[in-house]
Amino acid sequence: MRIRKALFPVAGLGTRFLPATKASPKEMLPVVDKPLIQYAVQEALSAGAEELIFITGRSKNAIMDHFDKAYELEAELEARGKSDMLKVVQEILPPHATCIFIRQAEALGLGHAVACGRAAIGNEDFAVILADDLIKGESATCMEQMRRVYEEFGASVIAVQEVAPEEIHRYGVVEIKPISEGLGEVTGIVEKPSAEEAPSNWAVVGRYILTPHVLDILEATDPGAGGEIQLTDAIAEALKQQTVLAMRFDGKRYDCGSKLGYLQANVELALSHPEFGAQFANYLRDLPLPEPEPESSAESA
Ligand code: UTP
Repeated sequence: MRIRKALFPVAGLGTRFLPATKASPKEMLPVVDKPLIQYAVQEALSAGAEELIFITGRSKNAIMDHFDKAYELEAELEARGKSDMLKVVQEILPPHATCIFIRQAEALGLGHAVACGRAAIGNEDFAVILADDLIKGESATCMEQMRRVYEEFGASVIAVQEVAPEEIHRYGVVEIKPISEGLGEVTGIVEKPSAEEAPSNWAVVGRYILTPHVLDILEATDPGAGGEIQLTDAIAEALKQQTVLAMRFDGKRYDCGSKLGYLQANVELALSHPEFGAQFANYLRDLPLPEPEPESSAESA
């Protein structure tokens, strides 16, 4: 059992990040010095994926360009003797990786985006990574941790994290039968429940290992929460026939689809940057910070 294919839904409108995302993709927002989608691709590669399937939409051509060969740029860097930067550009993708781009004509929801990958996925189990959930794995990348669970149990795996009750309404939430510390069998899953209705505080984050059965279900799935075709609804249906595991990952997730999460990712990843982390820490230390104000709830934005 191996996960060779990873799917990246990148066709969303990114409304929470306007105006930055008016003409350029949210997934190309840089965290420190790399776009979000590059972190996602590296994570998929770390777990052994070789075929990278991007579900794109309008205004997303920059993503395609980012993973394409840039002849002029490479020639220019070579001519200027900038061999370090040339290496950085050439190593964005390893030679064994291939990219497939599929257009989602209308942003009808994450479930619909995943279903658009059907022809490229065929009859294999596959990974799904949402690039705006940036995860810094502790012992290994999140997808690598999931791959190990997938290989051990031979079942679908979704990554979860514990969230506070006031946050729960923003997530898909699982009901679980515990297996071991941080691992459970999913017995139910519901999209964006209220804190009272939520079956647990284990919230689904943007990492999945799924079977093609979910794609069959998605073809017949009606729009759910928010009028969108929800991946969560298809997983709920799949549970009737197959085992799905929820894995609490070891690491930290940044919700880079929100402005606050994106800023936090930039600050924390910059602090651990080998080149200028220490310098950046000194800069932050000397920064005159304003008096703390009571936190507003405006940022789920
Ligand atoms: P989000 O829920 O973050 O939606 O999608 P969004 O449109 O990107 O952003 P907001 O909420 O308007 O700010 C989660 C992931 O699913 C993809 C997005 O690109 C993102 O990676 N997606 C969502 C699609 O590919 N197609 C869709 O129809 C919806």
